[in-house]
Amino acid sequence: MKRISVGVIGLGTIGSGVVKALRDKRGLIAERSGVDMHLAMACDVRRSRGAQLGLPPSLFTINPQDIIKNEKIDCVVELIGGQHPARELILQALKHKKHVVTANKALLASDIEDILSVAAKSGRQLKFEASVCGGIPIIKALKEGLVANRIDSLYGIINGTSNYLLSKMSQESLSFAEALSLAKKKGYAERQSRLDIEGIDAAHKLVILCYLLFSKLVPLDAVIREGISGISEMDVRYAGEMGLVIKPMAIAKKDHESLEARVHPTLLPKSHPLAVVNGVFNAILLKGDMVGDMLFYGRGAGQSATTSAVISDIVDLGRDALEEGRRKAKAAARVSRIRRVDEI
Ligand code: HSE
Repeated sequence: MKRISVGVIGLGTIGSGVVKALRDKRGLIAERSGVDMHLAMACDVRRSRGAQLGLPPSLFTINPQDIIKNEKIDCVVELIGGQHPARELILQALKHKKHVVTANKALLASDIEDILSVAAKSGRQLKFEASVCGGIPIIKALKEGLVANRIDSLYGIINGTSNYLLSKMSQESLSFAEALSLAKKKGYAERQSRLDIEGIDAAHKLVILCYLLFSKLVPLDAVIREGISGISEMDVRYAGEMGLVIKPMAIAKKDHESLEARVHPTLLPKSHPLAVVNGVFNAILLKGDMVGDMLFYGRGAGQSATTSAVISDIVDLGRDALEEGRRKAKAAARVSRIRRVDEI
């Protein structure tokens, strides 16, 4: 069994979910993976968060440095989001030889290359499954399962809130404002809802996907972007009458050296596989030159689905450490068969 000590920075919707899962799912995950996840400390600037989550004072701090500089912690989970101070905290954590798990799509969309390079220099890992499509393990699929494939195009619904809004407007005739207020209550929407409804969040995620697909960091302002804020209940109704649905689509295409990345509302026939992706669900349709068509589908936002992705990254780190421990034990056992002559 490998024990991995975790520090969580940021106890919002996802951070709280991670703290709960580290407590409630520890036994089950240890049994399934051989990794014993242990919450060493949690941090939030709001003093009351620790008590609200039932954390004893010894496990709660308002100072992230108590986690970053804590020698007993193996992995820092950054869930405060945004650029600053998230970037600084992640870089400090890596320099202090911690692995980092993050869901911070906005930061990765601009800084993924820099941060990965610092991680490589520190000999530590940066994991970010929770940054794209919530509970769908799309990062792992692109980095591992589909690594042998050339993928030239991807079509996805990658912002749960926009899809939830359009679905509610179309299926339950809610107004845009009513649907948005529900998405906020359910914990799907970003603190600044313009990130969701103006397509910015989807553009962040698309940049990360493009980086994994094409090894190119597309500048955010090179992503053609239009949100769903201009879509009215009437648009949704008329599209329906024509046998169409409006979906918040993200598209990445590569043709030789030219790369196209777009986020915008798109009309789809009701029979299209992406047309039936409703509510907070996300989906990604892609074609690999070896596997052919693939469709990924699942919850793209919300506490539980996103927490699932964060936990999978922590478990991966634990498994890698388990493997490394076994390798070292094997090496030590081999070497110990050889006689030592200490007096030389
Ligand atoms: N606001 C985001 C969404 C959260 O709705 O997709 C998950 O990244």
